[in-house]
Amino acid sequence: MKSNLALGTVAAILIMATTTALAEGPHDKAIKARQAMFQLYSYHSGILTAMAKGKMEYDAELAQEAADNLLAAASLGQSTLWPQGSDNANSENARTRALPAIWETYPAVAEKGEALGKAAAAVAASAGSGLDALKASIGDVGAACKACHDDFRAKRK
Ligand code: HEC
Repeated sequence: MKSNLALGTVAAILIMATTTALAEGPHDKAIKARQAMFQLYSYHSGILTAMAKGKMEYDAELAQEAADNLLAAASLGQSTLWPQGSDNANSENARTRALPAIWETYPAVAEKGEALGKAAAAVAASAGSGLDALKASIGDVGAACKACHDDFRAKRK
């Protein structure tokens, strides 16, 4: 009887802990969606960077596809991906590194996004035309990523 009670208590605590861990914040879906978008940026620019650095053999068709995909990802509409309050200062949110400065200094962040759009378009126009053309254009993409992260993305904790 006694041990049953104890087990019941343990079970209740476990259920509480699980519920707390699964609690959803009001903006979690948008946060996950924008992070997925950034994963697409990262994956495709990673292929292009690896080719430019000689870590992966240059292949015109694959380079073109990666550049086209990067441009497509960089062209996604983002109106619903950044709701007010979905920053990393709001503890209700899922894990996010989005700094409040995104909203506080708007439209500075949009200008950084436009810079990436231009750089991605330049890569898409050149990546399939040879390794030298790719090398000449991919640097601006990395710079555009970094420029935005420096101002608007929190460092890893
Ligand atoms: C206009 C600003 C901006 C640009 C441009 C930008 N990023 Fe980011 N990036 C962010 C912000 C803000 C976050 C944090 C998002 C969050 O956690 O909610 C982020 C997060 C990420 C993440 C982590 C995603 C995750 O799963 O948590 C990766 C990877 C990333 N960016 C890669 C890139 C790459 C690669 C580029 C360039 C091709 C790039 N970003 C361009 C602002 C930007």
